[in-house]
Amino acid sequence: HHNCFSTSAPTQNAINNITVFGSGLMGAGITQVAAQNGYKVTMVDLDEQYLQKGHDIINASLKRVGKKLYIDDEAKQKELIDSTFANITTSTDSSKSVEAADLVVEAIVENLETKQKLFSTLDKAAPGHTIFTSNTSSLPISDIAQATTRPEKFAGLHFFNPVPQMKLVEVVRTDKTSQETFDTLVEITKKLKKEPVACKDTPGFIVNRLLVPYLLEAMRLVERGEANPQDVDTAMKLGAGMPMGPFELGDFVGLDTLKFIVDGWRKGGKIDANLVEPVKILDELVAAGHLGKKSGKGFKSY
Ligand code: CAA
Ligand code: NAD
Repeated sequence: HHNCFSTSAPTQNAINNITVFGSGLMGAGITQVAAQNGYKVTMVDLDEQYLQKGHDIINASLKRVGKKLYIDDEAKQKELIDSTFANITTSTDSSKSVEAADLVVEAIVENLETKQKLFSTLDKAAPGHTIFTSNTSSLPISDIAQATTRPEKFAGLHFFNPVPQMKLVEVVRTDKTSQETFDTLVEITKKLKKEPVACKDTPGFIVNRLLVPYLLEAMRLVERGEANPQDVDTAMKLGAGMPMGPFELGDFVGLDTLKFIVDGWRKGGKIDANLVEPVKILDELVAAGHLGKKSGKGFKSY
């Protein structure tokens, strides 16, 4: 049984070049962390405008990280930014961008067909040794892997928002993911200075499987009139040590994202029905376009 990380076995796969698909919130964060830790990264998106957005996200985050690391040393802060960007190239050509890739991390829109289409293209363009991973929050890894001819080299590599801050990476293996692929991903996670945990390809893996029902339960509590959102947030921060309360966190993650996850789980039928029952206030906010922090309003205003 391979439920533990092998500690000593050196892996055969040397990873030097990483290609990240998507230059949005997650893709930019993953690109940044990989580049900061010495990997050569190619960041890919549909057009230059999106790539520029990704560049801006990375730049803002590095400024923040630099100020924390080197409080009064502006030269060092600048060096961090320059040395990180020196490891990053960008591209809008999916096939070309994986010709020299050792690892692909996909962080594009949360849509199964779009992800399958991308991986089907990459499967033909990437060398045989290239490991493919998806950062999906809610789709089965094995469904995405089906679009390729390399299921043994396919896994989930699930980062958390904000990527530069959150120390966890869930390494998700399907029934077909090889031990070698898994070991390589565990090793890379550590080189990114993050902590890996092993997950099976089940809905929500570990974190979202526990976090999402908790966030929904907080909304149901408020819906029943038992407390208001501010008090729930205060309670969970000061009484349970959470860095953000459930309403703050829901707004931070994005209410559309939460709804998408719950609706997908309900359709998937693998989770207790009462855990994924629709929540009225969530559905109403999303229908009104109040998606949380990114849209300026959710449970709170920003
Ligand atoms: N790069 C980018 N953004 C950063 C950052 C960095 N290095 N550091 C902080 N942030 C962002 C936050 O988004 C927030 O933005 P604004 O300033 O624009 O409002 C702000 O910075 C908060 O940062 P602070 O410096 O004030 O706070 P902090 O550094 O002490 O803690 C935190 C921030 C780490 C996000 C903390 O509040 C926390 O841990 N919150 C919980 C986050 C969480 O649970 N994330 C997981 C969500 S679930 C998920 O990601 C999985 C999924 O599939 C949906
Ligand atoms: P986002 O909307 O910020 O970014 C997605 C980017 O992908 C966009 O820039 C879009 O132009 C680009 N894109 C779409 N199709 C593409 C293609 N075929 N090739 C290249 N680029 C393409 O989304 P995000 O929040 O960064 O989420 C990305 C993935 O990460 C999703 O699968 C999501 O479920 C997962 N995820 C999100 C979070 C979160 O809190 N936001 C946390 C963990 C995992």
